[in-house]
Amino acid sequence: MLIAHTIAELRQALAPHRHPAFVPTMGNLHAGHIALVHQAKPLGDVTVASIFVNRLQFLPHEDFDSYPRTWDADCAQLRAAGCDVLFAPREKDLYPQPQTFKVHPDPALADILEGHYRPGFFVGVSTVVMKLFACVLGTTGGTAVFGKKDYQQLMVIRQMVQQFALPIDIVAGETRRAVDGLALSSRNGYLSSQERQEAVALPQALQQLAGRWATSAPHERDALEALAMEALRARGWQPDYLTVRRRSDLQPPTAQDQPGALVVLGAARLGTTRLIDNLEF
Ligand code: PAF
Repeated sequence: MLIAHTIAELRQALAPHRHPAFVPTMGNLHAGHIALVHQAKPLGDVTVASIFVNRLQFLPHEDFDSYPRTWDADCAQLRAAGCDVLFAPREKDLYPQPQTFKVHPDPALADILEGHYRPGFFVGVSTVVMKLFACVLGTTGGTAVFGKKDYQQLMVIRQMVQQFALPIDIVAGETRRAVDGLALSSRNGYLSSQERQEAVALPQALQQLAGRWATSAPHERDALEALAMEALRARGWQPDYLTVRRRSDLQPPTAQDQPGALVVLGAARLGTTRLIDNLEF
């Protein structure tokens, strides 16, 4: 696996290739990331991953400084997965000047849910992904693979690619889960062993909410989200949202929107760790 730290090194490594398949990450890789690399491999003539902890997508009080950086283990996993090129820019390589030119996604999609609780998050994500796309796929186009675990992020990136007519196919990877059902996430590493046991209550709450929503009459549905949040609160969580939305635009469903076109999304804090998850139904 070739490791490129600068954009020039990356472009040189990719020069012989016509269709890179790209998996952007912030490192601290787990089986979910590695599944995305395996998914990417047959989709291009060279497989590229990136590791960059993007300061722009963290609020000042969030975990940018403490975000786990596990370089040696990440490289070993990427090598074993058959990744050909790792792009690992330092901050000065990707942001040589303060990044004052930013990508502002549609507020209707990006200022709700995660964007409501983490203002500016999707500006930071869209800006770095646009820049990573320019570095990795800018001369050829190609394919990029994003996990469905970050459901809203995937939708924002799809819309960005579509509205800027970028020659990039966005492919979605299914969420990988531990045996008890907890979605794999780098932030699971922050959980104490007691919290780790409790954490499965989040996917269970989403499953229960989806099941109840699907079997309720429309007039009963309004109360279900508040009840689901209250049940998590009673277990010691601080939920931001547990909500049923349309898959097409993440807006609340109308009477015409039926299971099959819906997704239930949740974000909740357990101790100091904020977890997100979702389930299509
Ligand atoms: O999902 C992530 O790990 C990040 O948001 C991404 C897409 C790599 C951008 O920093």
